[in-house]
Amino acid sequence: MTKPLEGIKIIDFTHVQAGPACTQLLAWYGADVIKVERPGAGDVTRSQLRDIPGVDALYFTMLNSNKKSLTLDTKTAEGKEVLTRLIKQSDVLVENFGPGALDRMGFTWEHIKELNPGMIVASVKGFSDGHHYEDLKVYENVAQCAGGAASTTGFDDGPPTVSAAALGDSNTGMHLAIGILTALHARNRNGGKGQKVAVSMQDSVLNLCRVKLRDQQRLDRVGYLEEYPQYPHGSFTDVVPRGGNAGGGGQPGWVLKCKGWETDKNAYIYFTIQGHAWAPICRAIGKPEWIDDPAYMTASARQDKIFDIFGTIEAWLADKTKFEAVNILRKFDIPCAPVMTMKELANDESLRASGTIAEVDHKERGKYLTVGSPIKFSDLKVEITGSPLLGEHTNEVLETLGYSSREIAALHEAKAV
Ligand code: COA
Repeated sequence: MTKPLEGIKIIDFTHVQAGPACTQLLAWYGADVIKVERPGAGDVTRSQLRDIPGVDALYFTMLNSNKKSLTLDTKTAEGKEVLTRLIKQSDVLVENFGPGALDRMGFTWEHIKELNPGMIVASVKGFSDGHHYEDLKVYENVAQCAGGAASTTGFDDGPPTVSAAALGDSNTGMHLAIGILTALHARNRNGGKGQKVAVSMQDSVLNLCRVKLRDQQRLDRVGYLEEYPQYPHGSFTDVVPRGGNAGGGGQPGWVLKCKGWETDKNAYIYFTIQGHAWAPICRAIGKPEWIDDPAYMTASARQDKIFDIFGTIEAWLADKTKFEAVNILRKFDIPCAPVMTMKELANDESLRASGTIAEVDHKERGKYLTVGSPIKFSDLKVEITGSPLLGEHTNEVLETLGYSSREIAALHEAKAV
């Protein structure tokens, strides 16, 4: 079966997480992704947080599957020549170096365009071009703070808090993948002209914090936010507060204790009080008298006693595990889920069956788990292959660029590859 992106050649000049997450996604769907790495060292994540001495770390293997690895020192004349040939033969170059690094290497957008007018150059930076912080290097949590996630996450009496989800890294990579596919589509329609695609980590975080900007404007207008735990008993300042585990939309929700919470830190469910599900909720938790009680029957009537209602639901949950509780509540059509641990997710049969948790073989570490494609297609079965060893495909790639065996040996000799 032909894969959708087969024939698209990508120079993967990315490292750490934001860029590799983008190019890995494109590789899953068939693109020929050539990861360019510094000889001898490679992507820093190969050696970060290693669990097996001398073997590529999971940080690397889980973000670089389905790719080839070419070692290349692009600061040598020979290395620049190899990169030049590669650019002439490729469709996309993806990079997430610190600001200005590609230019300093001698590969400005103007130069790349001259070499290959069809080239799409896709970049991740911490901040967008022209931003007053455009010179800053940025990692995940820096982006979460810069993009509004940290100030709005956590509890009101605690400090700004970052999320475990990679809102700055992988999320930015996903935005970039959309940008690249859009530019490829445009190229097909405009006579093969490439373009520059740029995504900043701050912008990508803010895009996911859209509802918090909504809340800022509501707060500016009315002075309070009724779905936050600060309403009606607490107080608001002039900025969107941290809302704990409150639901972000119009449906109140909270994380509630289940049987065993005293010893199991994750014996909880998320419970949502969806407005039109009020009657089923009352039936499920054994409070049918609340269905028609004017003090409870509307969302606004419930708002000032929402935590008492959650307390009543917790009393009902006290003799049920999180899984038992969800199995009961699902019959009443109540939006809820158990709080899942990584261990539970790793062993989840449904996730294994769908390929979202995938077991992959690696030449040196053996089998390991990774997260497979979260996007499912009717006409594509995404197969995840192990990440490449450092320089595993160097000679193969050089041959496709027209280098003879003698020239390849000379490049090795000069330590350019
Ligand atoms: N051959 C020769 N030199 C290479 C090379 C290669 N194959 N690959 C990289 N380099 C050089 C670069 O040219 C650069 O050199 P210069 O600064 O002398 O011009 C140098 O390596 C360092 O690159 P840089 O990307 O700045 O690395 P860093 O380790 O100092 O910073 C980040 C890391 C992630 C903070 C930075 O890359 C960054 O801010 N990136 C943009 C945002 C981002 O993606 N953040 C990470 C999200 S996971």
